[in-house]
Amino acid sequence: MSFKVLVSDPLAEEGIAILKGFCDVDEKADLSEDELVKIIGQYDALIVRSGTQVTARIIEAADKMKYIGRAGVGVDNIDCDAATKKGIIVSNAPEGNTLAATEHTVAMMMALARNIPQASASLKKGEWKRSKFMGNEMNGKTLGVVGFGRIGREVAKRAQALQMTVIAYDPFIPAEVGAAMGVEMMSVAELFTKADVITVHTPLIPSTTHMVNKDSIATMRDGVRIINCARGGIIDEAALYDAVVSGKVAGAALDVFEEEPPTSSPLLTLDKVIVTPHLGASTVEAQKNVAISVAQQCIEVLKGGSAKSA
Ligand code: NAD
Ligand code: MLT
Repeated sequence: MSFKVLVSDPLAEEGIAILKGFCDVDEKADLSEDELVKIIGQYDALIVRSGTQVTARIIEAADKMKYIGRAGVGVDNIDCDAATKKGIIVSNAPEGNTLAATEHTVAMMMALARNIPQASASLKKGEWKRSKFMGNEMNGKTLGVVGFGRIGREVAKRAQALQMTVIAYDPFIPAEVGAAMGVEMMSVAELFTKADVITVHTPLIPSTTHMVNKDSIATMRDGVRIINCARGGIIDEAALYDAVVSGKVAGAALDVFEEEPPTSSPLLTLDKVIVTPHLGASTVEAQKNVAISVAQQCIEVLKGGSAKSA
C-alpha cells in the first residue's frame, strides 16, 4: 500500500528525501484553509512548520490522516484537541532547533546591548555617529531566564560564559537543576525585580500569556532590556511599547510577535526595539535536524509504530 504525505510548509530536502524513500510526497506551500480542506482527504500524513494553521476544519476533512508532524517545537498552530478526537498522532521535533534558537537569543541580546542594527543602518546612510550608539557591557549584569527548558538552559550557559549572573523561573523545574548549573531559581516576581535583562523561553499557554505586562514591567529595574525569541503573546506588546517610549525599558529584542507578520505593530517604529522575522530556528543545521526528525517519525507512524518526540 502506498501512502501519501502532504508537506505544506518549506521542509529541508534531507527530510523530503527520507519521506520519498517510503511514500509519495506532495510539497504545496501557502495553501489557504479552503484549499487544504478540499485536498486533505487524500493524504495519510501532513507535515508543517509554523506557516500552516492546522485548524479543526482541516482536521475534520482529513479522513485518511494518521499523523501530523511539526518540524519545530511549538505545536500552537495545530488544533491538537481536534486531532486527538480524530485519532491522529501529532508530534514535533523538539530538540533539533534548540541551539539555533539559543544562539539567536544571545545574538539578539548582544545586538541590543551594543545597538548594532541601529548603528549599522546609520553608517549605511552615510552617518558616523559614535556617541549616539553608546552601549552597555553584559559582563557582570544579571540575566533573568523565564522558562528553564531546553533553550532557557542553553542560553543560561552562554550568558555565564559572558560572565553574567543568571537567575531563572520555571514552575516545573526543581531548584536543584538550576543550582547544579550555578543558576538561582526564584519566583517570577522576584526575578522581574532583580534582572538587568529578561529573556522568555516558555510555550505560549494561558499561564504565560502576557506574563510581561504593564504591572510586571512596573516592578522591573529601570533600564531593563527584554528579549522574546519564544512566542508572540508572552509579552503584552502594547505595554512594552509604552514602557520603551517612557524609558522604563531601555530596549527590546523581538523575534516573535502577537500577530505574524507584525505589519501594523507600533513597536516597529521604535529605534530601541530590534526585530527579526521569526528567525530563531532558521539555520541550515536546525532545519536539517527537524526535517529528518519529523520525516522519521512520520514513517514510523505510517508503518504502525509511534512517534518519538516529547
Ligand atoms: P521546552 O519545553 O524545553 O521549555 C519550555 C519551558 O517553559 C519548560 O521548562 C516549562 O516547564 C516552562 N514553562 C511552562 N510554563 C511556564 C510558566 N508559566 N512560567 C515559566 N516557565 C514555564 O521548550 P524549548 O524548546 O526551550 O522552547 C521554548 C520556546 O521557544 C517555545 O515557545 C518554542 O516554541 C520557542 N521556540 C522558538 C523558536 C523561534 O524560532 N523563535 C525556535 C525554537 C523554539
Ligand atoms: C519552533 O517552535 O520550532 C519555532 O518557532 C521555529 C519554527 O517555527 O520553525
